[in-house]
Amino acid sequence: MYTQGLDIPGGEPGAGNSAAKGKPQTTEPAELQADFDAKMAADRKIEPQDWMPEAYRKTLIRQISQHDHSEIVGMLPEGNWISRAPSLKRKAILLAKVQDEGGHGLYLSSAAETLNASRDDMIDALQTGKAKYFSIFNYSTPTWAAVGVIGWLVDGAAIMNQIPLCRCSYGPYARAMIRICKEESFHQRQGLELLLNMMQGTEAQRAMVQEAVNRWWRPVLMMFGPPDAESVHSSQAQAWGIKRISNDDLRQKFIDAAVQQAEVLGVGFPDPDLKWNAERGHHDFCAIDWDEFWNVVGGNGP
Ligand SMILES: [Fe+2]
Ligand SMILES: [Fe+2]
Repeated sequence: MYTQGLDIPGGEPGAGNSAAKGKPQTTEPAELQADFDAKMAADRKIEPQDWMPEAYRKTLIRQISQHDHSEIVGMLPEGNWISRAPSLKRKAILLAKVQDEGGHGLYLSSAAETLNASRDDMIDALQTGKAKYFSIFNYSTPTWAAVGVIGWLVDGAAIMNQIPLCRCSYGPYARAMIRICKEESFHQRQGLELLLNMMQGTEAQRAMVQEAVNRWWRPVLMMFGPPDAESVHSSQAQAWGIKRISNDDLRQKFIDAAVQQAEVLGVGFPDPDLKWNAERGHHDFCAIDWDEFWNVVGGNGP
């Protein structure tokens, strides 16, 4: 029973969409599972009042809570720059962006609550280290250019990760992601525009941008998660329609797009192996230091 304590109009636990379709209600585990499997096969959404396997619910809670925590923790490094933004215009843009991230956390907490995950439990799991957030937010932002790079690359990588989630099989998560992605697109653009402005400025400003890009490029590539071969949760999440595109495919897609944007900006990426591979139709890039990734995820800092 997944709707305990939630007041969802018209939703009887175990009824699922089949009730709405006029099919008889069932409480037989095998039939409930068959109904769930049929929805998965037909690419239909699972809603809070529907029966779902416990492992599906737990996977969603883990992913949504990690995403939720990342939105909230992500406000911290940028929030520090609000009072230091170099102009009124930049201050207003950054304020709006940081406020959006708080909103994203709110939409995601609400989506998790429809799965019976309480906010207290989720915050407790974060504070005791049981729940994670994106390791990227452990990297420091010592210059204004880092704020631009967070928008361009970190929000850019987030969009790449999150657009497929708009088609996620769990309705409340998918619908939250549609609005989040629209706002993330503004975040990415403001970062790119901020950097473009600096690149048209002085030599010192251009150097500051390149330094920030050098520092953030490799951690950003880690945002797509471990390689597919090592990703523990990926294949089940793909079968359930929670994850639509693999970590490695998303990472490649991101790199191919970022290379073109870097050319427009006039910056380079710190990777001697980064080059176009005509045979693959993608850019090659050098191996990622996954020891660093696991170390940062483990809470030991960059
Ligand atoms: Fe966000
Ligand atoms: Fe964002």
